[in-house]
Amino acid sequence: MIKTKITEMFDIKYPILSAPMGPFYTTELTVAVSEAGGLGVLSHTNLLGRDPIKTMKENFDYVIEHTDKPFGFNIRTARLQIDAPALIKKTARWINEDPRLREQCVYAVTSAGTPRKASEYWKKKCPTLKHFHVSPALYLAKKVVDSGCDGLVVTGIEGGGHQSYEEISTLVLLQEAVRAYPDFPIIACGGFASPESLAMAIAGGADAIAMGTRFIASEESEFHKNYKSVIYPATARDTILTTGSFGPIRLLKNKYALEHGKILSKEEKKDQESQLTMEKIQEDMKRYELIYKGDTENGAILAGQTVGLINEEKKVDDILSNFTKEAEKLLKDAMSKIQ
Ligand SMILES: Cc1cc2nc3c(=O)[nH]c(=O)nc-3n(C[C@H](O)[C@H](O)[C@H](O)COP(=O)(O)O)c2cc1C
Repeated sequence: MIKTKITEMFDIKYPILSAPMGPFYTTELTVAVSEAGGLGVLSHTNLLGRDPIKTMKENFDYVIEHTDKPFGFNIRTARLQIDAPALIKKTARWINEDPRLREQCVYAVTSAGTPRKASEYWKKKCPTLKHFHVSPALYLAKKVVDSGCDGLVVTGIEGGGHQSYEEISTLVLLQEAVRAYPDFPIIACGGFASPESLAMAIAGGADAIAMGTRFIASEESEFHKNYKSVIYPATARDTILTTGSFGPIRLLKNKYALEHGKILSKEEKKDQESQLTMEKIQEDMKRYELIYKGDTENGAILAGQTVGLINEEKKVDDILSNFTKEAEKLLKDAMSKIQ
């Protein structure tokens, strides 16, 4: 057993979470990860034509109907994410009104933007919820700690999907965060897809890891089979960082990703955002819809460099139990080298 601040905080067996992967559904995945002894996390799902608030509530209800284990959810709080303020309020209300949600919905992770408003609101209105925020750099981790959050998710540039302009690797960021905040709960994310990486994270001071791409390629995840099938042959060289509507995004190379263009600087992006039209946002949203339906040429395939480590579909339960068992062995072997 690996016991950490996170396994204790959420009363879970394994120090492993599923990373949020909006705009897609990770509802079945959340149930599977939580049932298996990790912490499953619902995504901020806003595929074209769906109401993100209604969808989040449906997802909450689905999870508590299918497991009695703890779980979490994500809200993206970027400048352009217009549904975020309402989601912050509604989630607090749902949790307060339903005793099962109060018991099971224990983790909220916000990403992009700043966490202060959500943190203050939830602390007041929904004190049972533990609020973490994603930090892609140490100066942003400081803002998370100062905002009164309960923990940090440090995500480096090798990760899949939504990323930041900071371009700092998870390895360096984790060391910085652990040194700066040794007593603060820290989840390491981005680049994890093996028992070795779990062992490294725990040895380096993280309290848990969160994985995205590895869980896409799990038997229980609801990602399209074509999405899963392009992950297995891919190597770590096959992803590219591009500029999405909401900032940098790591995609698997395909026709769309290569035509979409290289990442812009933060200044260029801010300039572009000021001219961003509804049509442009809808065009990006269409690319998510295409991959959701299995079009691996024209859809946006969000994936991390970890594609190079993933060769087959696995059951969620096997991922969690094998990764932890192997990581424990690796940590014990490493200990035996100390004389
Ligand atoms: C398909 C996909 C969608 C993602 N969507 C979100 C999102 O909605 N919110 C968020 O905070 N991060 C999002 N991310 C980033 C993940 O939460 C996580 O940081 C990343 O998957 C970690 O890297 P890994 O894929 O190598 O495990 C997404 C990642 C992927 C692969």
